Amino acid sequence: EEMTYSEAIMKASNSIARFPVIKVKGVPLMSHIAYNWDSIWAFRPDPSDLLIATYPKAGTTWTQEIIDLLLHNGDAEACKRAPTPVRSPFLEIYSPPPIPSGLELLSKMDPPRLIKTHLPFQLVPPAFWENKCKTIYVARNAKDNLVSYYYFDCMNQTQPEPGPWEGYIHKFMRGELSWGSWYEHVKGYWLEREKRNILYLFYEDMKENPRREVERIMKYLDLSVSEDVINHIVELTSFKIMKENPMTNYSCVPSPVFNHSISPFMRKGEVGDWKNHFTPEQSKMFDDDYATQMKDVNIPFRTLI
Ligand code: A3P
Repeated sequence: EEMTYSEAIMKASNSIARFPVIKVKGVPLMSHIAYNWDSIWAFRPDPSDLLIATYPKAGTTWTQEIIDLLLHNGDAEACKRAPTPVRSPFLEIYSPPPIPSGLELLSKMDPPRLIKTHLPFQLVPPAFWENKCKTIYVARNAKDNLVSYYYFDCMNQTQPEPGPWEGYIHKFMRGELSWGSWYEHVKGYWLEREKRNILYLFYEDMKENPRREVERIMKYLDLSVSEDVINHIVELTSFKIMKENPMTNYSCVPSPVFNHSISPFMRKGEVGDWKNHFTPEQSKMFDDDYATQMKDVNIPFRTLI
């Protein structure tokens, strides 16, 4: 009998630590990822594989669930066959054994596979583009993304210590957090979206009109799903339902890795929570820096101020 994902994490508990980040081609990544970089870079997907790419905390899990449900015609039970990180492996993740790496999980699955990555565009294994894999990118407004990442770094015991809130804002602005600069991340995929046929989505659009965004994903994937099924998928992927669903709420990653009592993985799921965290001074400082860092592109983020 193979051990479950949760059991593997429990077995690895003595090797869990807040691992440092190491730069790969200038991008800070968790040390385990950096040590295994060559095998990640050499990964060859099947042309039928789908890639979901995000900066951490932009709405990855939500989008993974929507896509898995679309691929299974809204069959909720089929999408409870395994927890999110097993159904839709995290390409670059390496953790202490016996926790399976993303590549290990992928090697045991038949294409088409739904592959998650947080890698910035330039670090995505080039075979994804050679094989013209369909790619969905989700971007979330910088301030909410930062707040969500702060809580995540508090609860994820394998990420570097977030430190105090004010300092964390500066680390985010300087691109020092795991997976690097949010600014470079959202720009990298934005600038390649036409050439690489990337579907570029926004978390705020998904909140505003989830049905519209589910339909966009459906069309991009050349699927045709009935209106009833789409409505059902919108319901099943509401924050409330996903928070209660053990297959989507990351209860499969217990403490000592995710300490959900510090902050649950399914934390708030809202637009504009940054207003509860940034002081007016911090907000002004952030906006000034944002204008400089984003001046060379015009990505239609809608909810910054
Ligand atoms: P908050 O911390 O703001 O609540 P990721 O999956 O990329 O790690 O992103 C996690 C963020 O998406 C968290 O944001 C989480 O609550 C939110 N999220 C997860 N599922 C969601 C859903 N169905 N609807 C809205 N937000 C969701």
